[in-house]
Amino acid sequence: MARGYFIAGNWKMHKTRAEAAALARELVAALADGGHKYLVAPSFTALETVAALVRGSNILLGAQNCAVEEEGAHTGEVSVLQLKDLGVQTVILGHSERRHIYKEDDGLVNRKARLALKHGLDVILCVGELLEEREAGKAEAVCRQQTVEGLKGISAAELPRVTIAYEPVWAIGTGKTATPEDADAIHAYIRKVIGELYGSAAAESIVIQYGGSVKPDNAAALMAKENIDGALVGGASLRADTFVPIARF
Ligand code: PGA
Repeated sequence: MARGYFIAGNWKMHKTRAEAAALARELVAALADGGHKYLVAPSFTALETVAALVRGSNILLGAQNCAVEEEGAHTGEVSVLQLKDLGVQTVILGHSERRHIYKEDDGLVNRKARLALKHGLDVILCVGELLEEREAGKAEAVCRQQTVEGLKGISAAELPRVTIAYEPVWAIGTGKTATPEDADAIHAYIRKVIGELYGSAAAESIVIQYGGSVKPDNAAALMAKENIDGALVGGASLRADTFVPIARF
C-alpha cells in the first residue's frame, strides 16, 4: 500500500519518568528494524526524558495535547513552542477524552491544529462517534463534522502533515473493537470527505489510523483493510510485549 502504516502509542496519564524511559528503551531496541512509521506520546512530564531516548531512532515523539495559544496567562496549559523546545514532532488533538471529559469542541480543536501546523508540528486529529450516536445511525455524520470542522482553514499544502485517527468512543479502553469491516467503512467515508475537501489525490494519500482496543490479536486483521493505515493504541501501548507485536504486525 502506497500510504505506509503509522502505528502510534498514546500513553495517556501513565508512567513516571523512569517507567517511561524503560519502555522507550525497549521500544527503540525492538523496533529498530520495524518497517512502519512509529510514534510514542508520553505525558508532558516524561517528554524530555523520552525525547533523549528516541532521538536518532525511527520512533517519533508526540504530545497528547497542546494549548490553543502560543503563550500567555493560561495556567496549567502547555504551548506548542514549549513542546517544540522538547523535541516534540507531532501532537494528538481532539482525542475523545479531551472532547468528552474536558469539553473541547470542534472549534477549539481546529484552532489548536492550525497553531500546531503553523509552528511546524504534525497533527493527529482524532474523530469518532459515541455509542448513542452510532446506535442512532449518526456515526458518519459525526465523523464528517469533526473532520470538516477540525480541518477548517488547513491548506492542501499542510494536509500531508495531518493524520486522521478514527476512534469510535465506545471502543476506547472498553475491549470492544470495531469489526475490521465496520472500521473500514468509516475510514472509507472519512477518505471520501477528505476528497470533497481537498481532491482525490489528497484523499488517496491521507493516513487514517484506527484506534479503540487495538491489541496484538486484532491488529493484523484491522491493518489488512484497504482504508486502515495504522493504529492509535492506548492500553496496549503501555508495555513493549503488547505494543511491539502491534507495531510489527
Ligand atoms: P485503547 O485507547 O487502545 O486503550 O482503547 C485508544 C486511544 O484512546 O487512543
